[in-house]
Amino acid sequence: MFGKRPGTDTLSPRSPVSKAAPAAERVAAPPPPPPAAKPAGRPANKAAVAAIAVETRSDGYYQIKTTIFNALIDTIDLAQLAQLDAESAREEIRDIVNEIISIKNVVMSIAEQETLLQDICNDVLGYGPLEPLLARDDIADIMVNGAERVFIEVGGKVQLTNIRFRDNGQLMNICQRIVSQIGRRVDESSPICDARLPDGSRVNVIAPPLAIDGPTLTIRKFKKDKLKLTDLVRFGSISEAGAKVLEIVGASRCNTIISGGTGSGKTTLLNCLTAYIEQDERVITCEDAAELQLQQPHVVRLETRPPSLEGTGEIKMRDLIKNCLRMRPERIIVGEVRGPEAFDLLQAMNTGHDGSMGTLHANSPREALSRMESMITMGGYALPSKTIREMICAAVDVIVQAARLRDGSRRITHITEVLGMEGEVIVTQDLFVYEITGEDEQGRVSGVHRSTGISRPAFWERARYFNLERDLAMALDQAQQGQG
Ligand SMILES: Nc1ncnc2c1ncn2[C@@H]1O[C@H](COP(=O)(O)OP(=O)(O)OP(=O)(O)O)[C@@H](O)[C@H]1O
Ligand SMILES: [Mg+2]
Repeated sequence: MFGKRPGTDTLSPRSPVSKAAPAAERVAAPPPPPPAAKPAGRPANKAAVAAIAVETRSDGYYQIKTTIFNALIDTIDLAQLAQLDAESAREEIRDIVNEIISIKNVVMSIAEQETLLQDICNDVLGYGPLEPLLARDDIADIMVNGAERVFIEVGGKVQLTNIRFRDNGQLMNICQRIVSQIGRRVDESSPICDARLPDGSRVNVIAPPLAIDGPTLTIRKFKKDKLKLTDLVRFGSISEAGAKVLEIVGASRCNTIISGGTGSGKTTLLNCLTAYIEQDERVITCEDAAELQLQQPHVVRLETRPPSLEGTGEIKMRDLIKNCLRMRPERIIVGEVRGPEAFDLLQAMNTGHDGSMGTLHANSPREALSRMESMITMGGYALPSKTIREMICAAVDVIVQAARLRDGSRRITHITEVLGMEGEVIVTQDLFVYEITGEDEQGRVSGVHRSTGISRPAFWERARYFNLERDLAMALDQAQQGQG
């Protein structure tokens, strides 16, 4: 019904959408069928990582796929195909590909043919070679460095896959397909683009000439079932007592900064802390790409906007936070603080929006403090550094440090309080620290979350105000007795 092929007597008559018949020729059989990818949703541990192999597709397979794909494109009318719903379009493509396979005398097993059909449908209708990776729930990041090199992060470890694109043209088309869904464009004239997949995954594309070796696509996969503090305890990212303290930090409206390196779990941790916000609080979230999933009923979600192609219409994080202040927020949650908006967040924290939170990139709580200071200075505020530090001290109660260790595991390495100033210096006090004690035979880092022995943290009064001081005392006791 879809692809009429004049001159192919053996085929059933089809509608006039097809353009030409593929020439009959013999094509070598593809290599043995690839092992199927393991089902999604595996725990992120090293043993699981080793067991998960991305489907193998050899050079021969790619050659055959290209031949069949080209014949399909010659045959099919893409404009007509676009009119069909996804299911019917898939059916049409399957019919035509099956016919091409038989005309070209490609010898394939049923399993091989099924893989090829899937791949070709994904190329024409979906995100091509990315589809099998997008379908897996155990992948945190997909990193495509040009058509030939696709990396994934599983269980905290980055690994090269054997997935590849036909060429940079196909990769660029897929990038374009992704960003056009939210009304953006990526090409030589505007080679940098942030976007989001329909499932919420965060996407960045940087194309040539800026990316020298071909279009570069980075996807932070969206996890539908966000990790909770109990999951982090289960993974050993934080001790039970540490998690309880974090819960109290969230519930007693401490102003909190979550600090950590790239992919260390900052956003995940921020999301965990928001679980302890009361149901009746009005919360406003500001993000570059909406990743947070707050469960409370009274949440307003805001997102920044990049400039249009004409360079107009940009809405920066600063604009959002400033606007927030006119929206009667009780808490402001900033997905990531990267620049001068640090000033606005601190001001919000200092003006009665207790329990506001944000994340920033830094490798230790101390570095987080100096990063904040330099972000404010670089924003052009001509304030003496002592004044900026005083402002930070007055605003921030707690810094939580996240880290990805060398074995790929993620740990909360510090829960640190900001106490005040001594002269020109900000004084901090660690409540919990993670101490690395060694490494086991499998290369996994071992360590302990240790309480520093503080039994009355500076936010004690705050906890008392929210009737949480008993829980806090118990958690700190538990930690000191080495159970936490
Ligand atoms: N404690 C943890 N244990 C295991 N996996 C985790 C943990 N924390 C986060 N992850 C996973 O790690 C990935 C990165 O997490 P997340 O997005 O929170 O990092 P991030 O620090 O915000 O990254 P970025 O710097 O890119 O914004 C996600 O897939 C998340 O599910
Ligand atoms: Mg993040």
